[in-house]
Amino acid sequence: MNTILVGTQWGDEGKGKIIDILSQQADYIVRYQGGNNAGHTVVVADKEYIFHLVPSGILHKGKICCIGNGVVIDPAVLESEIRAMSSVGVELDGRLMISALAHVIMPYHRILDQLREKKGTHKIGTTGRGIGPCYADKINRCGIRIVDLINPRVFREKLADNLKEKNEIFKKVYHYPGFEFSAIYKEYTRYAKLFSSNVCNIALLLDRAIKEKKDILFEGAQGTFLDIDFGTYPYVTSSSATSGGACIGTGVPPVSIDKVIGVAKAYTTRVGEGPFPTEFAPKLSEIMRQKGQEFGATTGRPRRCGWFDAVMVRDAVILNGITELAVMKMDVLDGVKSVKICVAYTYKGKIFKEFPYDAEVLRSARPVYQEMPGWGKTVNKPRDYVELQPNAKAYLSRLQDILGARIAIVSVGSSRDDTLFISA
Ligand code: IMP
Repeated sequence: MNTILVGTQWGDEGKGKIIDILSQQADYIVRYQGGNNAGHTVVVADKEYIFHLVPSGILHKGKICCIGNGVVIDPAVLESEIRAMSSVGVELDGRLMISALAHVIMPYHRILDQLREKKGTHKIGTTGRGIGPCYADKINRCGIRIVDLINPRVFREKLADNLKEKNEIFKKVYHYPGFEFSAIYKEYTRYAKLFSSNVCNIALLLDRAIKEKKDILFEGAQGTFLDIDFGTYPYVTSSSATSGGACIGTGVPPVSIDKVIGVAKAYTTRVGEGPFPTEFAPKLSEIMRQKGQEFGATTGRPRRCGWFDAVMVRDAVILNGITELAVMKMDVLDGVKSVKICVAYTYKGKIFKEFPYDAEVLRSARPVYQEMPGWGKTVNKPRDYVELQPNAKAYLSRLQDILGARIAIVSVGSSRDDTLFISA
């Protein structure tokens, strides 16, 4: 079975935990887009692990973890994650494979990302990791790929070409001194040596795995509404975070995909700038932020919080071909008097039942809510779906009806045990 796991909101839905659980059944776990802007948190035996680049399935012995061509790789981050894994006794021995075609984040990408954000006229609220500039170079056909990095002659040539043009731009547009060839060349040649034995043709590796009937789990980063095409542009990331990205970002053909699972938080959060129709007023936002520990796993930034937006998530179900959903952090809503679900928007007297792609409409859209009674604080954590409080079950059942996909998993806490499975 080849399964894609995607976020249905603005990222941070809790995908890391579901990937960790589903990884137990998978043979291969594959990242297909994004880079170290992502942060997947996994809690095992009370110990928290945060992954930015390496698929979180690496915690499971014997699993092959792949970084696909659609990912942008900051080698310094990859090195530190590999070292961190070794230091806690997770052995990689041939289990981490990197696509030769993945693009490399260079120091000038990071700095450009930060300078553009500082300039501030069109601030996106990026993670400042160089993601956008790296993808821009990829599309502009001047990027440096892993296959280029491990070939000293090609790397030298491409780096020199890039610096020639970019240093001019840095100096003239950003009044930034620019970059020295030799320091970057030395640093990145060291990475090339470090990773070269992990580099391979991921498309062929996965083709072989499919022919051998192995199970592959494609691990999406960010979320549907941060997708470069379908997200709330320009307040998006620079990659294809929807399920289609799994094929583009690995070379696995669409006909080989069996299932798409969507992950949604029981409410909504967003980091960075951009429209957010169901956002709470500041006081409630702060209460929920503290309760749900809504701080970015990558940058530590406080996340904006709001009610569940079913218009958005229903759109995500359609865009991704989701048939099953995992609803996360239900426990954070425990003790809330009444809960609200956004079922439509109004704008200039008109009702919108579908997600509006016009940023102008979305910015001023007012949510139409269905209000439902909340449920009390949980004394004993439910260990089975039937043990959930009746009003919590009613909330999930209403979500399922609106979203048009089966809720198969409900999470009521951060550990693996706090996961309820609902059979079909
Ligand atoms: P970038 O991906 O760093 O360019 O940031 C673009 C937008 O995507 C910003 O609003 C970020 O906060 C958001 N973003 C990027 N990665 C994540 C993520 O993993 N979770 C949530 N938001 C993210």
